[in-house]
Amino acid sequence: MTEPLLSADRVTRVFRGTRALDGVDLTVHAGRSVGIVGESGSGKSTLLRLLLGLDSPTSGTLRFRGEELNRKDRGLLRRLRRDVQVVFQDPRSSLDPRMSVGAAIAEPLRSLRVQGDHRSRVAEVLRAVGLDPDVTSRYPAQFSGGQRQRIAIARALAPSPSVLIADEPVSALDVSVRAQVVALLDRLRAEQGLTLVLVSHDIGIVGQLCEETVVLHHGRVVEQGATAQVLADPAQPYTRRLLSAVPRLD
Ligand SMILES: Nc1ncnc2c1ncn2[C@@H]1O[C@H](COP(=O)(O)OP(=O)(O)OP(=O)(O)O)[C@@H](O)[C@H]1O
Ligand SMILES: [Mg+2]
Repeated sequence: MTEPLLSADRVTRVFRGTRALDGVDLTVHAGRSVGIVGESGSGKSTLLRLLLGLDSPTSGTLRFRGEELNRKDRGLLRRLRRDVQVVFQDPRSSLDPRMSVGAAIAEPLRSLRVQGDHRSRVAEVLRAVGLDPDVTSRYPAQFSGGQRQRIAIARALAPSPSVLIADEPVSALDVSVRAQVVALLDRLRAEQGLTLVLVSHDIGIVGQLCEETVVLHHGRVVEQGATAQVLADPAQPYTRRLLSAVPRLD
């Protein structure tokens, strides 16, 4: 097994009496792809926010490359911010409409003080997501939903992260372009050796992209294992219900 890049050890997160996460253990190894599934409110986004260092657990421990995450350890958080990037559900809200595509993609390079030629890096990641590097002077409104999500993925890739965390990356997109963005994520994973942590309601997408699957129910991990195993032979009635309830991406 490769080194754990991210891990959660008995993590609990309580919001005013709501146990969003309740004793969650999770290990994400370098180069692996992990899908997190569960019904609405099961704690998926809460877990991602903790892995991103955007929130702190009520109890338990998060680790990045073996080091305990602590909101006061600015050095470790800075390394995490660069090495673990995120793509959200809706590129309309994650991309600033007043910022050109080039400026948006270069922004993390600037704020993270990444060395090197930012212009050529922007062109490189635009090509990597299948967009023409000439689009840098245009604005998000000039693109379709699928193209905007490609731009958001390019921005996430710009600082050369090891891990891409994606929270429902295709569910806001037209069904017709979902498969293309899923194929893009799959290609980036294969070509760049990206570690992927993906939340999706669509178990078909998790089946396509993720080697491992974690099933959350009321903030607890109720099932965890190789995706093929979990999908083919779910041990829990809850997982069987999820499998029958969700639309498949065929
Ligand atoms: N900032 C917050 N303040 C209060 N409660 C919160 C907060 N964030 C999450 N919760 C609660 O924690 C629980 C888990 O929420 P979370 O957003 O992690 O679910 P989810 O699995 O991502 O759901 P969805 O599929 O709808 O995105 C829910 O009961 C939610 O209301
Ligand atoms: Mg969520």
